Amino acid sequence: MTIDADPRKALTVRQLLAAENPISVLGEKSIPYKPECVASARGFVRDIARDWGVPEEIREVVELLASELVTNAIVHGRGCRDGLAVHVAVYREGRIMVVEVHDGNRDAPVVAAPGEREESGRGMALVAGLARSWGFRDTRLGKAVFFELLAWP
Ligand SMILES: Nc1ncnc2c1ncn2[C@@H]1O[C@H](COP(=O)(O)OP(=O)(O)O)[C@@H](O)[C@H]1O
Ligand SMILES: [Mg+2]
Repeated sequence: MTIDADPRKALTVRQLLAAENPISVLGEKSIPYKPECVASARGFVRDIARDWGVPEEIREVVELLASELVTNAIVHGRGCRDGLAVHVAVYREGRIMVVEVHDGNRDAPVVAAPGEREESGRGMALVAGLARSWGFRDTRLGKAVFFELLAWP
């Protein structure tokens, strides 16, 4: 099955995969919109990957990409509702791990072209480059950005 390059359509592919593989929720966590909470979200995802036997080199990628999405949610994704948290969910679909980060607005994440900005603008390029696929979808309170990795090869 080919993965569509359009991230808005990638969800359809995900849904197809989910129909073939039952989805397990491995964990969910909410953190406030505070940069100092990125570390605990990162540790949360790392612990899940370790608990479920994801190989170390893949765990490092999971942790890095999750940390980029959570940072983006905090920096770019705040909504207008006070008290709304960033929500992190980790799923298993067969051999695929899905990490989904919910925030409070509907602005689309953008993948910067290589070299476009030196200091910043690398997070989504890392996600797009290292994940098997990624995408985003509208939610009731904003959107969810996700990536998928072959975590159990
Ligand atoms: N969760 C998000 N909500 C809204 N916009 C986002 C989100 N994540 C990324 N973006 C947009 O995509 C751009 C690229 O993200 P990224 O590659 O992580 O670079 P940076 O965060 O350093 O700007 C951001 O500058 C922002 O405009
Ligand atoms: Mg970023």
